[in-house]
Amino acid sequence: MENDQAARIRELEIALERKNGLLREIDHRVKNNLQLISSLVLLQSRRMDDGDARQALKTMQERVGAVATVHRRLYQGDDTRHFDVADLIRDMAGDLALAAGRDDVRITLDLASVSIEPSAAAPFALVLNELVGNALKHAFPDHGGVIAISIGKADGGYVLTVSDDGCGMNGAQKAFGLTIVELLCKQLRAKLEFVPDGPGVRAVVRTPLTAT
Ligand SMILES: Nc1ncnc2c1ncn2[C@@H]1O[C@H](COP(=O)(O)OP(=O)(O)OP(=O)(O)O)[C@@H](O)[C@H]1O
Ligand SMILES: [Mg+2]
Repeated sequence: MENDQAARIRELEIALERKNGLLREIDHRVKNNLQLISSLVLLQSRRMDDGDARQALKTMQERVGAVATVHRRLYQGDDTRHFDVADLIRDMAGDLALAAGRDDVRITLDLASVSIEPSAAAPFALVLNELVGNALKHAFPDHGGVIAISIGKADGGYVLTVSDDGCGMNGAQKAFGLTIVELLCKQLRAKLEFVPDGPGVRAVVRTPLTAT
């Protein structure tokens, strides 16, 4: 009887491992395909004469790149139900800083171990991409500074903060980037706030629902 049970457990373990292997493989393929699209968009952007069109395609390429990073990270561990956002933030901060090529801007990280549902990972990555991208692009027009990214658990959810000590928004109107941040926060059932304390911009994304 005990032998039967042990054999059955072994069978289930093998089936689970096979399923996880399959998930990892699909994810790897999705990542490669997204990287392919990202490269195509970049190549096309380089052929554009119009500066605005070139810039728009370049930022779109970065957005696709952010989603590709999610798929590079999904299902890397054994746990297929949770996605570690701290690792994602570390990866993305490195990529964005490198792409921005600003030696005078430092990114600091304060990351607690927070996991979210895999389905929330792509919107989360896009929000992060826009907020950090904005700080790199707009906060330091004529001198360097610091961008601080933190994530912590709070009220059964998480709080993501992206702040900089740059020039501040000065009443700038939101364009496409911040419009999609608002839409994605709704999708994540998160509350987005720009907190006016100190110099620069401090964006706070708070969700009680998607963290585990
Ligand atoms: N961290 C920041 N520091 C200073 N200004 C900022 C910051 N974040 C946003 N802004 C201002 O808010 C404006 C709107 O940002 P938004 O992300 O919507 O558009 P964008 O970055 O100009 O273009 P895109 O649609 O490519 O994101 C920016 O043009 C900029 O003037
Ligand atoms: Mg922007």
